[in-house]
Amino acid sequence: MIAVQTRGLVKTHGQGQSRVRAVDEVDLEVPEGQSLAVMGPSGCGKSTLLHLLGGLERPTEGEVWVDGRRIDTLSERALARLRRRSVGFVFQAFHLVEELSAAENVELPALLAGRSPRQARRRAAGLLERVGLAERARHLPSELSGGQRQRVAVARALVNDPRVVLADEPTGNLDSAATNDILRIFEDLRGSGQTLVIVTHDERVAATADRLITMRDGMFVGDTVMTGTGGRWLGGLGGLIGLEG
Ligand SMILES: Nc1ncnc2c1ncn2[C@@H]1O[C@H](COP(=O)(O)OP(=O)(O)OP(=O)(O)O)[C@@H](O)[C@H]1O
Ligand SMILES: [Mg+2]
Repeated sequence: MIAVQTRGLVKTHGQGQSRVRAVDEVDLEVPEGQSLAVMGPSGCGKSTLLHLLGGLERPTEGEVWVDGRRIDTLSERALARLRRRSVGFVFQAFHLVEELSAAENVELPALLAGRSPRQARRRAAGLLERVGLAERARHLPSELSGGQRQRVAVARALVNDPRVVLADEPTGNLDSAATNDILRIFEDLRGSGQTLVIVTHDERVAATADRLITMRDGMFVGDTVMTGTGGRWLGGLGGLIGLEG
């Protein structure tokens, strides 16, 4: 089963002179249970790609399929439903609700998906525990560090057991211990057949994925399957994707 698929995917931003092809003719197939890392320089279209995969932006051209369903033609209402139930997003800028505690932020999507307050509370507590924030559950986002907020965002993305998790720099502000916590959580996802697409600048994070795609100017310029070679790739990745120099 293919969890995420695109055909001829194009997204242009802006008008006239400032028009940018943020995603340029991308064909992608991510099998169920695969973890895919996407790397590439700032501005190459990684976030735009994730937004298209999760139905947050609509393509200019081409098709997006999630969990066997074409989503680029769905109504706003149907898209909102898909995002609530099938897709978990970890955003580059967290997007936590500042007025709500960490626990309430995690509970919110569960409540919106129709779970009872009790179920939502139980799931949120379990997830916050998993990301090492059980003691911070009642804190507001403004009372948390960047890395702690990021972990709340990861917990929130997972609360509805999404088939597909889309993560934009989920370890961007984390020290290496916290990064390892997040990687362990992602590893669990794979065990349960969930599919992960993770945008990252961190070679260590990329090295844990099953597959690495590199982007440049909206296009895929590299696609490497890394089954069981994570450790070996670690040393060579910088050169491979041109991050050095
Ligand atoms: N809403 C928008 N309006 C106009 N241009 C946009 C918009 N969003 C993104 N772009 C442009 O599209 C291109 C791709 O942006 P995107 O955010 O996808 O890059 P990215 O690879 O995620 O970069 P970073 O690593 O810095 O997060 C960039 O040139 C960006 O300036
Ligand atoms: Mg981005």
